[in-house]
Amino acid sequence: MDRLRIIGGQVLSGSVRISGAKNAALPLMAASLLTDHTLVLRNVPKVADIDTMAQLLAELGVNVSDHKVDDHDSSNVASSSVCVSLNGSGLESVTASYELVRKMRASVLVLGPLLARLGYACVSMPGGCAIGPRPVDLHVSGLEQLGAKILLKDGYIEASAPKGLRGANIELPVASVGATENLMMAASLADGDTIISNAACEPEVGDLAECLVKMGASISGVGTQRLEISGVSTLRGTDYTVVPDRIESGTYAIVAGITGGTLDLLGARIEHMQSVADSLTKVGVELTKITDGVRAARVSREICPVTIETEPYPGFPTDMQAQLMALFSVSQGASMVTESIFENRFMHVPELCRMGADINVHGSSAIIRGVAELSGAPLMATDLRASVSLVLAGLAAKGETIINRVYHLDRGYERVEEKLSACGADIERIDEDHK
Ligand code: UD1
Repeated sequence: MDRLRIIGGQVLSGSVRISGAKNAALPLMAASLLTDHTLVLRNVPKVADIDTMAQLLAELGVNVSDHKVDDHDSSNVASSSVCVSLNGSGLESVTASYELVRKMRASVLVLGPLLARLGYACVSMPGGCAIGPRPVDLHVSGLEQLGAKILLKDGYIEASAPKGLRGANIELPVASVGATENLMMAASLADGDTIISNAACEPEVGDLAECLVKMGASISGVGTQRLEISGVSTLRGTDYTVVPDRIESGTYAIVAGITGGTLDLLGARIEHMQSVADSLTKVGVELTKITDGVRAARVSREICPVTIETEPYPGFPTDMQAQLMALFSVSQGASMVTESIFENRFMHVPELCRMGADINVHGSSAIIRGVAELSGAPLMATDLRASVSLVLAGLAAKGETIINRVYHLDRGYERVEEKLSACGADIERIDEDHK
């Protein structure tokens, strides 16, 4: 199992090429199940979750091939994002097994497309995960409203609609990203019109909608809480480029903030980062648009405390909460973070405290009293965003930090140690098997 070793205290400056968004690429890959033509996706990040989705689709019979894109930008930071071709003309299975679904909750995104295309799907229940119970009831009830019969049996969701799905008015009680994506894909091939109210508006949902439209779907209201979908009988293949990762962008903006440097986030889109930019401005980290992305610079001597609460887009993203908490740990004063999307998403707190952070959790809120300095320590990564918050803290801490269980980080951050060391970080991966 790999570990990361960081010696903190360097000021990081330079350029970072932002990868394609994992959370956009995953549903886009699942959309290949909707057609028997080839879907070509570009700017797909090289991260473990993408490999898991590719493996799952291959098991279902999708022909998945990837080609490395050898793209060097002006800062000489190579991008290892890939172009993936997916062809679902030879689907031979409708079962997404527990083995793969348990590794990655987003596997449930194959449910809607399989059902819409083949009239049957059997997908393992994702079960609990490190950041709370995360149910799939909204995916299931939405598909039922589209006419599917659903049985929950032996840990599997068995869904059938032998005569096809039919359009419906679906009001989501919670603006779930995954449920919106699953239902939008299913409704694209349903008979008649579907309205999804209280739909999630995250840019990754918009990216999926744009790709589906290029494939021949009829979707309006993209980027709003009300999606209107007129079902079509078939979809075609297309060539689509995945949106840049706003969470990776925000994470590297905090790298600049916590180390007191300036980073150019190449490819980043400021319009997808507004709430993060607003909070960071108050902290003393300014984000400005540049020709090919966003520049993040620490502009104040001290890091100022701020209060944030996570919300659905365009509010402050839950996926940036842990990173901001690392930054607040070394601020001048007390900050408050309230997590309102997921339960149990403060697992980074005990690890940050082991580095000397002063954080108290009360229910869904945490009070962070800034300390003058964090100190390096051996740490345990617990989930994707928690892991990267430990990397951020390690970059700012005095001395050596060792982060264990880096596979959590590898699920969603492409070559983090290479990107950081290109900007001056003292960081290396220790491959335990080849020591
Ligand atoms: C996606 C993102 C994840 C991000 C999250 C919120 C991907 C692959 N993952 O996850 O990184 O943190 O959005 O922005 O895109 N809920 C239900 N029932 C359901 C579905 C969801 O109650 O059937 C609840 C969840 O428990 C949670 C809230 O809805 O409290 C939002 O979850 P959701 O938007 O569905 O998150 P994911 O799509 O799983």
